[in-house]
Amino acid sequence: MTNHHYPTKSERNVLITGASRGLGRALALAYAARGAGLALVARDAPAVEAVVREARAAGARLAHAIAADVGEKEAIHRIAAEAQAVVGSIDVLVHNASTLGPSPLALLLDTECEDFQRAIEVNVLGPFRLTKVIGAATALRGGGVIVHVSSDAAVEAYPRWGAYGVSKAALDHLARLVDAELADAGVRSFAIDPGEMDTAMHREAVPGADPDTLARPDDVARRIVRAIEDPVLAPGGARLVATTMAEVVS
Ligand SMILES: NC(=O)c1ccc[n+]([C@@H]2O[C@H](COP(=O)([O-])OP(=O)(O)OC[C@H]3O[C@@H](n4cnc5c(N)ncnc54)[C@H](OP(=O)(O)O)[C@@H]3O)[C@@H](O)[C@H]2O)c1
Repeated sequence: MTNHHYPTKSERNVLITGASRGLGRALALAYAARGAGLALVARDAPAVEAVVREARAAGARLAHAIAADVGEKEAIHRIAAEAQAVVGSIDVLVHNASTLGPSPLALLLDTECEDFQRAIEVNVLGPFRLTKVIGAATALRGGGVIVHVSSDAAVEAYPRWGAYGVSKAALDHLARLVDAELADAGVRSFAIDPGEMDTAMHREAVPGADPDTLARPDDVARRIVRAIEDPVLAPGGARLVATTMAEVVS
């Protein structure tokens, strides 16, 4: 990163998809506490607006809700335009929104092609499209970070997690390729597996799991913020596992 203009902590603008609950909300609140500007995306408008209010109360310099579906091509330019017009140039882009597909999860050959397609659209094509717009602007400005929230299903072949696993494996490689092509422009891209967390997604996929055995989204969010802020901890092109990262002190 030779010519980057990565702004100081409190000047940063962060776009987070899937920010209405779970890990995305925790990330939004972690950045709010650092005084960042936030563009928060989810489909459920009242839910994401509620997180915007929480973020303002927690210290966000600016917070804006964008009700949109990242799996829809037409939504992408609106997300980017609204985020940049209201919040400003984006320094950190977090691809966190994701779908598992219908529960209970089906074996691969029982998976409807449309459900497989939807997993790819939300989990890979959406991030690709958003990176095309936001990443290009970030590269032109000479600095920023793009984070891809992955899963262990990207590397382990879990029966019934087929469409999701394939989409997350593709997302991992998207993270590497974005880094390979944009590192010279000052954009650092990496993937991170957050580990099993106590969220709505986990409750839906694994009903009855003991919450005490799962990570808290707030703790995982702190680790991800640390990885975003520290290129030594999260070098460009890396695939990290949040639970095995060096312990986070603050
Ligand atoms: N929880 C785990 O144990 C676990 C393990 C490994 C990886 N992960 C990954 O961690 C990330 C966060 O998961 P989570 O557990 O926090 O999930 P979650 O609690 O279900 O939250 C998902 C968020 O994404 C939004 N979202 C879903 N589909 C969307 C779409 N098409 N367009 C825009 N927003 C959308 C949801 O809001 P709306 O429904 O309102 O759109 C919500 O804000 C995901 O990438 C997931 O794959 C989670």
